[in-house]
Amino acid sequence: MKESATKTFGILTSGGDAPGLNTAIRGIVRTAMEQYGMRVIGIKNGYRGLIENDAKELQASDITGILTRGGTILGTSREKPFKNPQKDPVTNKFPVEAIIENYKKWNLDALVVLGGNGTNTTGAMLANEGLNIIGLPKTIDNDIVHTDTTFGFQTAVSVATEAIDRIHTTAHSHNRIMVVEVMGHKAGWLGLYAGIAGGGDVILIPEIPYNIESISKHLVKRKQQGKAFSIVVVAEGALSQEEAELDKKTFKKQRKNMQTSIGYRVAQELEQATNLESRVTVLGYLQRGGIPVPYDRVLATGFGVEAAHMLARGEYGKMIAMQNGLFVPVPLEEIAGKIKKVPLDHQLVVAGREVETCFGDV
Ligand code: F6P
Repeated sequence: MKESATKTFGILTSGGDAPGLNTAIRGIVRTAMEQYGMRVIGIKNGYRGLIENDAKELQASDITGILTRGGTILGTSREKPFKNPQKDPVTNKFPVEAIIENYKKWNLDALVVLGGNGTNTTGAMLANEGLNIIGLPKTIDNDIVHTDTTFGFQTAVSVATEAIDRIHTTAHSHNRIMVVEVMGHKAGWLGLYAGIAGGGDVILIPEIPYNIESISKHLVKRKQQGKAFSIVVVAEGALSQEEAELDKKTFKKQRKNMQTSIGYRVAQELEQATNLESRVTVLGYLQRGGIPVPYDRVLATGFGVEAAHMLARGEYGKMIAMQNGLFVPVPLEEIAGKIKKVPLDHQLVVAGREVETCFGDV
């Protein structure tokens, strides 16, 4: 066995599940066990499992046959231990205190957290409490700063693109406006990539507030050119130019009262403005489920193996990022609390405009 600074570590997956989580778990655990002889404690359901001490030592057999399996064998939750300063109703302990206690109870030298912005932000906060944390960037939203990509993203792009391709045929046959709502609350990467790949005639993302009149003009012009159908890709966090003027609190309140998701509102407004028949498809959790595409498997394996090497080197307090094709450790505090949004001059936005995709602004 090779030398390792870490003898025992915990591993958890937190936040929304994403294709590639099990692939990454396999990469970390197999390398850690086989190359370095580390002990691995699998923590159930994200940070919730660490609060409740719901964990068990993993065996090599636990990670056999999981390379292509969707979801996460460890389970996940959206638990944010620093958000609630009250005692936990289940354990009757303060969440952060319980986490530190259980970390010590299991004799952990480190904790590996696989997740998105929230997970890595919590990881940074736990590092400030003295725990040795290593983060991995998982999310279908691709919205983590300092990394070119996240695992799960390409699978979601692929699912959403296939859906758009299928919806295209109905759009064409029925001469309809087909609105396809994809995930992406704060960042529009998924909508942008799937929209460009699927030939969306309109792509609405949170970074570019839209104007219904501009979109209607575009759709009517298409009709006049003999293109009687249109595909409108809407990210769930898309917002109108009027909404963009609102303060955060008012916006949130209005959205809460909206009853339907944004795709339905856009479809209704477009139908009224253009007189063209419209239909909506909300892709929802289809985008997070199922087997990871090869690219995500390769990426997640690489991230996982690199995490094991970092554990062996005792290089803690960092998230592994992918930068220009290389795995690069980035201090967790540089990731915490930030979101990677689509820059308005991103080359795909520019390319989209060149091929006459309307982004709802002009
Ligand atoms: O964080 C990934 C994500 O898929 C977002 O795009 C989406 O808004 C969110 O999760 C919804 O997840 P859930 O309903 O599981 O909380």
